[in-house]
Amino acid sequence: MSALLEAKDIYVSYGAIKALQGFSLSLNESEIVSVIGANGAGKSTFMNAVMGMVTRDGGEVFLDGKKLPGKSYQIVQSGLSLVPEGRKVFTPLTVIENLEIGAFSRAAQGNISKDMKWVFSLFPRLEERKNQYAGTLSGGEQQMLAIARALMARPRVLLLDEPSLGLAPIVIRGIFAELKRINEEGVSILLVEQNAKQALLLSTRAYVLQTGRLLKEGNSKDLLADPEIKAAYLGTGEKKVK
Ligand SMILES: Nc1ncnc2c1ncn2[C@@H]1O[C@H](COP(=O)(O)OP(=O)(O)O)[C@@H](O)[C@H]1O
Ligand SMILES: [Mg+2]
Repeated sequence: MSALLEAKDIYVSYGAIKALQGFSLSLNESEIVSVIGANGAGKSTFMNAVMGMVTRDGGEVFLDGKKLPGKSYQIVQSGLSLVPEGRKVFTPLTVIENLEIGAFSRAAQGNISKDMKWVFSLFPRLEERKNQYAGTLSGGEQQMLAIARALMARPRVLLLDEPSLGLAPIVIRGIFAELKRINEEGVSILLVEQNAKQALLLSTRAYVLQTGRLLKEGNSKDLLADPEIKAAYLGTGEKKVK
């Protein structure tokens, strides 16, 4: 059986900077997989390469064994949806308007109100604030909105780029608990994180990315106990709160 999502031998460079040098990963149906790595390791580049937002110098991405189309909106239509680093909610628009934009490029335009009910059931705080401008939400609420907006595309694979960034530990735990619930509702998850501990606690398998290359891969449990990973990625505990 082939993987749901498979990225093979991805190369990306920015001029002389080789950001990814042959990175591969796979995600099976219903799985949560994480990619951990330090700042600058190439995590965002990888997500953007999968989503067709940066040009690949080499490599291919397959969904259900079929090559992904080239353009980002087509990639969203085929079942992938990204929660970008830094959330990038549309701050002058309301919560509802942000969610409507999330549904914009999906193939099935029907049932948008049903899906809005679904994301509000996952994030009741968003429903309470549905007519509020996104720019007036707290960081944690903006992260919820970014996730909810991505879910409005009804993805098979939800890709998240550093959802913990800049959030307090208690807020991070709430967001990660919600990701688990989203996964239990049938959405496969690919997560990239500098917050290795939270990512490894949530995922079943993980890949360690170091300067554009695979350092290690394995079961998240094993990586949590791995001395090399502990020393390099788990030593400092929770990240600083801005
Ligand atoms: N638009 C860009 N132009 C030039 N270099 C970039 C650009 N985006 C990222 N890089 C470089 O590529 C490398 C990987 O960056 P990135 O994918 O953002 O890492 P991460 O998300 O793991 O922090 C870094 O060396 C970074 O400085
Ligand atoms: Mg990044």
